Amino acid sequence: MKSRGRLFNLKSAVVLSVPVVILVSLTGCTAERRKSDVELGLNPRQAAGRRVFDDRCARCHEAYSSRGKKGPGLAGLFNQQYLSKSGLPANDEQIGDIVRDGRTDMPAYGDVLTQKQMEDLMAYLHTL
Ligand code: HEC
Repeated sequence: MKSRGRLFNLKSAVVLSVPVVILVSLTGCTAERRKSDVELGLNPRQAAGRRVFDDRCARCHEAYSSRGKKGPGLAGLFNQQYLSKSGLPANDEQIGDIVRDGRTDMPAYGDVLTQKQMEDLMAYLHTL
């Protein structure tokens, strides 16, 4: 029968499109395309800091969003006067201390990062 065939096609089209729609909406809201270092205008030091961030920080912090993960999003980190969670001034000294000494639910990196990695990381954080 002709009409049954058409109905089947419609049904299968709907069924097939569901996972596609779910996939598109999921990727749409969780992950923008990752920008390259060049697109972000990072100099070599900042780009090296981005690698440190990817390795050590990205599982808990969004770099380009204020959306929280395990820790607060760090977009515009140094543009704010006070840090969102701790209320400490958003300056090199305090943020350096947070990274070196850790916080509640955030590990300390004072013994993990080399001096150079620390400087690279701070340079990168200033670009957020
Ligand atoms: C296991 C998860 C985790 C990792 C890994 C982590 N952090 Fe955090 N971070 C947190 C949490 C949770 C807080 C909030 C602490 C608090 O209550 O003040 C935080 C706070 C911060 C803050 C202060 C933000 C604010 O608004 O108060 C900065 C800056 C920061 N982290 C940077 C980093 C950097 C840089 C790294 C990598 C070297 C890193 N974090 C790694 C969980 C993490």
